[in-house]
Amino acid sequence: MSNPINPFFSVSPDLTTPQLEQFITTTDYGDMGDRFDDLFGDARKMEGIEAASFARVLSSSDVHTILDCSCGTGIQALGLAELGFRVFASDLSERMTHILMNKCRNRQISILVKVSDFRDLQEWGNDQFDCVLSGGNSLSVLPDYAEMVRAIRSMANHTRRNGIVLVGGRDYTVPKRREESVYARGIRLITDGTGASASPEWIVDFRLYGRDRVQVMHTFVRPQEDGLAVERYAMSMMYVTVSDVIAAMEESGLQEIEAYDATGSKKYVDGEWYIVRGLKESQN
Ligand SMILES: C[S@@+](CC[C@H](N)C(=O)[O-])C[C@H]1O[C@@H](n2cnc3c(N)ncnc32)[C@H](O)[C@@H]1O
Repeated sequence: MSNPINPFFSVSPDLTTPQLEQFITTTDYGDMGDRFDDLFGDARKMEGIEAASFARVLSSSDVHTILDCSCGTGIQALGLAELGFRVFASDLSERMTHILMNKCRNRQISILVKVSDFRDLQEWGNDQFDCVLSGGNSLSVLPDYAEMVRAIRSMANHTRRNGIVLVGGRDYTVPKRREESVYARGIRLITDGTGASASPEWIVDFRLYGRDRVQVMHTFVRPQEDGLAVERYAMSMMYVTVSDVIAAMEESGLQEIEAYDATGSKKYVDGEWYIVRGLKESQN
């Protein structure tokens, strides 16, 4: 693949998955803990944006209860709860669930939070919700497409009849085509508490595009006396396109499947971020 910026320099070495795995420092978002929110600059603002997008997609459906089955630190769950939905949340990572529980306590938001794998959601027993959602491209961390179908089936199993399954994802084949291997998320100023001094922290994603998966290294860089302090968390994600999610929803028996852009206001045409909606069963 040619590089539009520098034709002599390949930014997409097309590594195989085992080659990519050599660079993995962690495979679990739980390892990021509180650092996860720093990726967004202003996590509260992000909550509002994400919740508004999902709510737009749900606006024509009768939805009051929502299970966010990959809640992380609560970007979607908290935002939706603040919009008035009755939210339940789970995640595979105990650490992430603790972060969300603390936020709920501090902000006096009531969300029942559990540790649960979205491939079976067995901790939710026979509970069914008006909507089960997975946002933030969480399904892409799974090993393969078959596991994604398993996750969407279990989401559908916990959705009531005529309820909605929602998947918010990111199609990494789009930046792969653009040869975008470095993505500047932003810069944070870290003050010493008194405000007398502030030091910058750059937050950058370095990406290695493999054949079947992309490895994203969330990297935090700070100047220090003898050089740079670097903290990084590397995640391996499969490429999940809108067509993949639609196919997985069809295999899971969902109907009236529709794909939207990241804002939830327009039908999906192309782009990196998307929301796909499927109906559990039709009225008849
Ligand atoms: C990219 S984060 C997204 C979190 C949140 N939805 C957001 O958008 O900020 C992916 C989340 O999925 C969780 N996760 C990964 N595998 C999972 C699984 N098998 N079952 C449930 N959660 C899982 C991770 O622990 C992590 O919190």
